[in-house]
Amino acid sequence: MTFQFAKPETVSKAELYANLQSQLRSLLEGERDFIANSANFSSLLYHSLPDLNWTGFYLSQGEELVLGPFQGQPACVRIAMGKGVCGTAAEQRQTILVDNVHDFPGHIACDSASNSEIVVPLVKHERLLGVLDLDSPSFARFDEEDALGLNELTEILIAMSDRL
Ligand code: SME
Repeated sequence: MTFQFAKPETVSKAELYANLQSQLRSLLEGERDFIANSANFSSLLYHSLPDLNWTGFYLSQGEELVLGPFQGQPACVRIAMGKGVCGTAAEQRQTILVDNVHDFPGHIACDSASNSEIVVPLVKHERLLGVLDLDSPSFARFDEEDALGLNELTEILIAMSDRL
């Protein structure tokens, strides 16, 4: 199987996310394993969105989040609910945009290259499955368009996968 990634520099952010939606649907079609699909999701985003140094998942396990499929440098494995950007987004079940991670109280630094971050909670039938986390070496890399685009992409992942 070969995969053609969108060229981020040639399209607007809205077009990029629209293209990613159709690419994601074809990438996941015929497979419902959540780990396999979230691994391919991480790769798709890491190679299609510009200016990222980390893309991946932390998955719910009891009262903590545990590192799931990702692309980038090795990362911390366990994050308690309510801790760091990931644990805060998970606890509040809200997308969190952080323009400067060094100003976020309790930010957990996994890669010293990270300067901004967005975390999107994954919720299915009111159950928290985990969070999607993207890091960038640029400050204020993420905006509301990214929040919307990433929420829509995670909805596709959730709808097209089974998580026990
Ligand atoms: N910065 C995150 C931890 C995960 S790494 O960025 C991969 C946080 O504060 O929750």
